[in-house]
Amino acid sequence: MKRIKAIYPGSFDPPTNGHLDLIERGSKIFDELIVAILRNPEKDPLFSVNERRQMLESMTAGFDNVSIDTFNGLTVDYALRMEAQAILRGIRAISDYEYELQMALMNRKLQPGLETVFMMPAEKYSYLSSRLVREVAQLGGSIDCLVPDLVAQKLREKMDVANKFDDGAAREVGPQATGQLGGQRGSERKTKSRKKKS
Ligand code: PNS
Repeated sequence: MKRIKAIYPGSFDPPTNGHLDLIERGSKIFDELIVAILRNPEKDPLFSVNERRQMLESMTAGFDNVSIDTFNGLTVDYALRMEAQAILRGIRAISDYEYELQMALMNRKLQPGLETVFMMPAEKYSYLSSRLVREVAQLGGSIDCLVPDLVAQKLREKMDVANKFDDGAAREVGPQATGQLGGQRGSERKTKSRKKKS
């Protein structure tokens, strides 16, 4: 019998309950699912690839057919190397659709044999994105119920370190310190604008 292997590529910075919901759904329809974290040197992520990998490994420990990996380069090339037949992507709202359709069609152009499968996470996660989770956490809001406990804890640790760094820098070199540190206070760290709120 043919076994279907899929990859679920993304940034996962950080992984959210929405991602977990999709992983659970994907694990039910594919024989094997590889959650693939993009190693993107151009981005300035909050969490390192290793941190994201560890969080995803803990979150998915209960799924026998789910594994975590990292990749760089084209998603279709990675899928081919992994001998996957499908790419799994989540669509939360119509606003995701245009970007996802464009990406799926480009991937099909690059690799016609590879299918993109869209799944919808539970409605309760339809507003949830990693970008918003980062922003809420950075501004001191509650992120409970948006991310698994382990991720919430890691976010709090990041915020504590960023705030200590801010305070220390401000004490050491005065009010301009945060400007000299790339103009971003840890607690006000800006996120780059993106086509899709991942
Ligand atoms: O979680 P994200 O940031 O929405 O994931 C986007 C991702 C990683 C799936 C996309 O940027 C991607 O596939 N990047 C790898 C490079 C690539 O294949 N680019 C062509 C896409 S058509």
